Amino acid sequence: MTRPTVYIETYGCQMNVSDSELMYGRLAEHGYDPVDGPDGADVIIVNTCAIRDHAEQRVVGRLGELKRHMKPGTVLGVAGCMAQRLGPTLLAKARHVSLVVGPDGYRALPQLLDGARQGERTTATSFDLEEHYEDFAPRRFADVKAWIPVQRGCDYRCTYCIVPYTRGAERSRRLPDVVREAEQVVAGGMSEVVLLGQTVNSYHDGAHDFADLLHAVGAVAGIRRIRFTSPHPNDFSDRVIAAMAGVPQVCEHVHLPMQSGSTRVLRRMLRRYSREDYVACVRRLRAAVPTLNLTTDIIVGFPGETETDFAETLSLVEEIGYEDAYTFKFSPREGTPATRMDPATFVPDEVASERLERLIAVVRRGARERNLRLLGTRHEVLVEKAARRGELLQARTRDFKTVMVPADRVRVGGYYLVELTGTTGSTFTGAVRGEAPPVPPGRADAAAALAASAAASAPVTLPVLAPLPAPAVAAPSRGGRTLPLAAAGG
Ligand code: 5AD
Ligand code: SF4
Repeated sequence: MTRPTVYIETYGCQMNVSDSELMYGRLAEHGYDPVDGPDGADVIIVNTCAIRDHAEQRVVGRLGELKRHMKPGTVLGVAGCMAQRLGPTLLAKARHVSLVVGPDGYRALPQLLDGARQGERTTATSFDLEEHYEDFAPRRFADVKAWIPVQRGCDYRCTYCIVPYTRGAERSRRLPDVVREAEQVVAGGMSEVVLLGQTVNSYHDGAHDFADLLHAVGAVAGIRRIRFTSPHPNDFSDRVIAAMAGVPQVCEHVHLPMQSGSTRVLRRMLRRYSREDYVACVRRLRAAVPTLNLTTDIIVGFPGETETDFAETLSLVEEIGYEDAYTFKFSPREGTPATRMDPATFVPDEVASERLERLIAVVRRGARERNLRLLGTRHEVLVEKAARRGELLQARTRDFKTVMVPADRVRVGGYYLVELTGTTGSTFTGAVRGEAPPVPPGRADAAAALAASAAASAPVTLPVLAPLPAPAVAAPSRGGRTLPLAAAGG
């Protein structure tokens, strides 16, 4: 008998990507063969995001389109945050969907699909605070870096955010389980891990905190790079920051959601920090890790945001100097406290759009100025995958810059020293100057190695940079980009 096939399409954050890897793994163990597209698949699962209305509308459109790809008997399931949020309403609205399953329901997926293939239509949206899918063997998408969920759910209640309602309360995996997964990652030939959680640095397993976790994962032989996303500014304890500085594998990049630069707006968002607290957090991080690069998330047009508040966001962006920022117009999510704020305080869409454009221009200009100053410097990169254009491969520096390198001199999964030779303003092209040292170098060692190899030509990148004059024309603005790294959260 031929094995049934399954295709999973993933929307949203890295946590969803990781969940899809778990679903594929679970279904493979139960006799399913994964396939790369919907055509002819016996089971199609759409793993969804609910963070903004736009994300949900895309899925609604896609569900309509998928009808055309279904053969008689194909089962279409909707998983993830939108499934959790809408539950049985989704079944009522989309007659060709036969399964709606929330983020805590994937253990029962094989049985639920058996039922669906017999003609049942089911919703499975209970929360399960014990669920970490410990015994699932994820089928990973990427072959160079591995996403490892270390925490599920969120205990913050930012007033705009749907995540606490779709992913439930915060709970952490046990530290030895995370370490075991990191060991398996190495055994599978990978050397970079990205630890995932909605507020990942609030991780705690009994007496073990996120600092312990960084040390423990750093101690796994063969792990060469550790990233994590997304942290909450309030959970950067001194211990966590010391671990970031002390564990050499922890990369010099933090995605630190700011959301707004106005204390007044932050209070209405219930972010639980002020502008000054946020600045102090960045200062502590940079004192410990001087070469740290920062990226962030920012919402414009939150109810009550005035032009003065928005100007404070712009000024904080300039003050901090982000490598990049994911920028969003506020999107009201039913059931969240922000939707109950005085309608008179809601920001008109044209105003929000105009602010978004200005914000994107400021972010791009800042990033471009800093990136231009890095030309000629040398960095360790890990080659991740084929780039979209031509004969290039896409690589990343430890501090999360994207560098395109010629494919003929490198291999995916390898570490190299590259010299940055050009920039689009956001990404770089690089010339390969040799292989990077094979052992995980300590941060100080890495800087020394780079300095030695670069001595003959350009200076090492220690980017405390003097400001450049602004370019005459800012890059054209474009909002709503997809997130390359972040877990929806922080
Ligand atoms: N509207 C707009 N952006 C939102 N985000 C979360 N909820 C909303 C919303 N209702 C953004 C935040 C978060 C990122 C993942 O998505 O900036 O950090
Ligand atoms: Fe939790 Fe992040 Fe959403 Fe705030 S924005 S409620 S911290 S997931």
